Amino acid sequence: MCASERRGGTYGIFPPRNGLSPLSLRLFSPFKQWVGHLQSLSCCDKPVVMQELNQSPTAPDFVQDPYPFYDQARACGDFVWWTEYDMACAVSHKMVHTVLRDRRMGRECPPELAPKIPDHLVPFYNVEAHSMLELEPPRHTGLRALVLRAFTSRTIAGLAPDIRTLCHALVDQFPDTPFDLLTQYAQPVPVVIISRLLGVPEDRADDLVRWSNAMVAMYQARRTPQIEADAIAATNDFVAFMRSYIAKRRKTPTDDLISTLIAAEEDGEKLSEDELITTCILLLNAGHEATVHTLGNGTKTLLEHAVKDITDACVEEVIRFDPPLHMFTRWVYEDVTLGDQTFKRGDQIACLLAAANRDPLVYEDPDVFDPTRKGPQNTSFGGGIHFCVGAPLARLELKIALEVLFERCPDLKLAEAPVYGDVYHFHGLERLMVST
Ligand code: HEM
Repeated sequence: MCASERRGGTYGIFPPRNGLSPLSLRLFSPFKQWVGHLQSLSCCDKPVVMQELNQSPTAPDFVQDPYPFYDQARACGDFVWWTEYDMACAVSHKMVHTVLRDRRMGRECPPELAPKIPDHLVPFYNVEAHSMLELEPPRHTGLRALVLRAFTSRTIAGLAPDIRTLCHALVDQFPDTPFDLLTQYAQPVPVVIISRLLGVPEDRADDLVRWSNAMVAMYQARRTPQIEADAIAATNDFVAFMRSYIAKRRKTPTDDLISTLIAAEEDGEKLSEDELITTCILLLNAGHEATVHTLGNGTKTLLEHAVKDITDACVEEVIRFDPPLHMFTRWVYEDVTLGDQTFKRGDQIACLLAAANRDPLVYEDPDVFDPTRKGPQNTSFGGGIHFCVGAPLARLELKIALEVLFERCPDLKLAEAPVYGDVYHFHGLERLMVST
């Protein structure tokens, strides 16, 4: 399996195009002989040796509890070299924060390193080509500004009554016997809300979930030809559906987000049809996958700690403590020294968001779930110009969904020990069996 196939965990809907650049290998390969050695400061401007760590991202123990590995990684310094990904990883809160915000690094692959896309994957990457998550300014600026204009805080706040009604309706349908809270609650809340926001008919929600799951599976550490074939089929279906749906909305606009995006103009430039399709797919995919798993992981944590009082601080702690997305990568655009490490154009750096969230230099007793914890800002929504567009919506959904759940089901308990899915691209539960 090649390095690019092994890499997973980059969110959004699209995995990076390729693995580690030759430049990175050149810079770091000589250090491989230092495996197991402690970091040693070198003289002059030579970089400090980056310590290597081995950890299969699909090892069962790791998938169930990645936090001990993150502790080990942080103990090595701001960066470690994760052998299985063949990549430098920022692991301290300070360094993750820095890398996400430093404009000498970004999500877009430097053109000279853009790999040839295999023919069979072209439809998937054609969609990616217009994703704001994979672009840098100036294209990123325009796309993001348009989405933000349609995605105002007033629009989001206005969704609160709707979210609450939906949550109550879902609780009304809870069975008397043990059931999976993920499928009965955590999944429908964000899927229905993002569908409504975009104006996509709710009776297509099952298709959206199916397409989205198939596309997001492209990130997983164990990508197979079948996963690729399913992702391509899902991409084609999703694009065809969006194309016909957008055509309908062009003729008869309503007050939904798709109509707003169609009409939105930034400096006189409308979104092209392909940009519009990708943006809708990104919002639909990003708009539910991460929230489903934050709601699942969060409910598990709250039940395990017998916490039922859902304050804003409690929601923030849920987001810090066990987030669904642990790894986001950045390309290096110019030679840069970060802490005691030097990187060259074309290198890639992975930011381990969940490792940063447990940094003891920043959070007191970071492994303790403390619903009254105050700041600093966790890194679960990323940072810098790619900071999650949906963070206000996700926070609102989490707050209301957890409030309603614990108000309506004061005796909610785990019906079996929760198990995380054995993939690293989403740190989320396979199911969450509970009884009321
Ligand atoms: C708890 C739930 C969520 C989590 C943990 C989460 C996490 C993230 C993270 C970490 C990034 C930044 C990636 C990077 O810096 O490379 C991101 C970006 C993004 N998220 Fe979310 N997200 C969540 C919910 C949502 C929702 C509800 C939406 C949409 C309605 C959304 C839409 C997006 C979009 C469009 C981007 C790309 C922004 C850009 O590139 O400028 N997310 N999200």
